[in-house]
Amino acid sequence: MILNFLEMIFMAECWEEVLQVRKDQEGIMLPHIRARQQLKQQIRSKQQEDNSNPGSSSSLSEYVLSYVDTLLDLQLPEEESKLNEGEMVSLCAEFLSGGTETTSTALQWIMANLVKHPHIQSKIFEEISGVVEEGRQEVREEDLQKMPYLKAVILECLRRHPPLHFLLPHSVTRDVTLGGFVIPKDTVVNFMVADVGWNPRTWEDPVAYKPERFMNKEGNGVEAFDVTGRKEIKMIPFGAGRRICPEYDLAIFHLEYFVANLVLNFERRAVDGEEVDLSEKQELTIVMKNPLQVHLSPRWK
Ligand code: HEM
Repeated sequence: MILNFLEMIFMAECWEEVLQVRKDQEGIMLPHIRARQQLKQQIRSKQQEDNSNPGSSSSLSEYVLSYVDTLLDLQLPEEESKLNEGEMVSLCAEFLSGGTETTSTALQWIMANLVKHPHIQSKIFEEISGVVEEGRQEVREEDLQKMPYLKAVILECLRRHPPLHFLLPHSVTRDVTLGGFVIPKDTVVNFMVADVGWNPRTWEDPVAYKPERFMNKEGNGVEAFDVTGRKEIKMIPFGAGRRICPEYDLAIFHLEYFVANLVLNFERRAVDGEEVDLSEKQELTIVMKNPLQVHLSPRWK
């Protein structure tokens, strides 16, 4: 009885917090969504004006399609309706947090491993130095294609420290037998992302952080590796199949770009006498329990 009462008080506080977060999200996003809706209406009127007056000049060339535009246009086939404002706020919030927290968490794990294993950091710097001419302080998008070891470092992080240890919950649409077990229709199924990447039957010494496992025999290129799991499933940091993360290649590009530029401009060393602690903590993503502390030395004076 006392426990129920305490639970109610505790839940009320949580609930209040949840409602406040939601209110904040709406406060930030609704003005943008409405502004975009207004702009679309203006564009539509302008198009109609241009159609009835073909000689007039249009400023449509400056228009860039945004995520919100696609939501405003979306027609839900089953409900035969459009998304309401609340649904659009939820989707924008999901898109923003799904696209930032995951990548920033992966970046933190990569940098932690570069500090823990200075030889990997030096090897990336050497690779960058072979591509970027002396004095240039930015690795550009087009340079990244020439950096296979960097790609191997990113893939190894996604295998060893996937930011999400579970996929979003999926469910089966019909009875399925898998490995001798029957999974009845509508059962919610989850996938243990981290355990797939740590399977000792697939990966030799799975706990070790060894980017070399993704390199070809000559050590000058990445072994063709399918991170989408279309050919075979060896790790699933982005999921697999129809609901795979739609932006997995953008995420890999972001990670390559940020890591390359961070390594090009600064050398990172562990704080004197302190080991880099790779313990994990569950938040929205799996983050470092003790966030990384480093000594930074600029490479350019
Ligand atoms: C290292 C970075 C990232 C990781 C590890 C990651 C991982 C994932 C995973 C595991 C899922 C669930 C897949 C499933 O349930 O089968 C997912 C879904 C999703 N991700 Fe990512 N993601 C990353 C970056 C991004 C970025 C940069 C964006 C957008 C800019 C993004 C947008 C989404 C969206 C919209 C979904 C939901 C897809 C759906 O419901 O069908 N993610 N992601």
